[in-house]
Amino acid sequence: MKFFVDTADVAEIRELAATGFVDGVTTNPSLVAKSGRKFLDVIGEICDLVPGPVSAEVTATDHKTMLSEGRKLVKIAKNVAVKVPLTADGLKTCKALSSDGHMVNVTLCFSPGQAILAAKAGASFVSPFIGRLDDIASDGLGLIADICQIYANYPAFRTEVLVASVRHPMHVVEAAKLGADVCTLPPSVLHQLYAHPLTDKGLDQFLADWKKTGQSILDS
Ligand code: G3P
Repeated sequence: MKFFVDTADVAEIRELAATGFVDGVTTNPSLVAKSGRKFLDVIGEICDLVPGPVSAEVTATDHKTMLSEGRKLVKIAKNVAVKVPLTADGLKTCKALSSDGHMVNVTLCFSPGQAILAAKAGASFVSPFIGRLDDIASDGLGLIADICQIYANYPAFRTEVLVASVRHPMHVVEAAKLGADVCTLPPSVLHQLYAHPLTDKGLDQFLADWKKTGQSILDS
């Protein structure tokens, strides 16, 4: 499973990239607004930091303007994946950009039928938002199971399932069990994945016992 980070905070991405766990980055207009910075500058800096796909979202809603925005975004760097919403115009734009050889991430996917359309439009990634489904008492991981099953039936579909709107570590674990290709993680969830109280407790015990030996590996 690949890990992308879901943030437009360049300093945070720089720090996380050093862990070696970051295979790509996803941004959206809300995350860019939160950064308080110029969109194109932010995407350029992220693309320099992370060699994997960096999603940059169009903000127009009509096909013609979306396509112009997408064509401008892909000029920033080779690893830009143009993010388009799962609308008729978004899918038309996906088809045009993917036919030209560009990566496209179709976002705001909430149903298996929508995911089939994204694959048929040649998307590199489809982003089902599982946390937002859970928020309305629906089944986010059930959607991931459905999409993974459907895509597995059709090897000609090359679209990767990019699990988005992840809220906690068990979303990641369950999505991995289902065979999802990518999870995009808020940085807090990546940090939570490290944590286990028995790891901390065990390490404390090892260090206390080691201290009793009076030894040092580097001084030996
Ligand atoms: O970037 C898309 C998605 O991950 C947003 O998540 O937490 O706003 O539902 P959230």
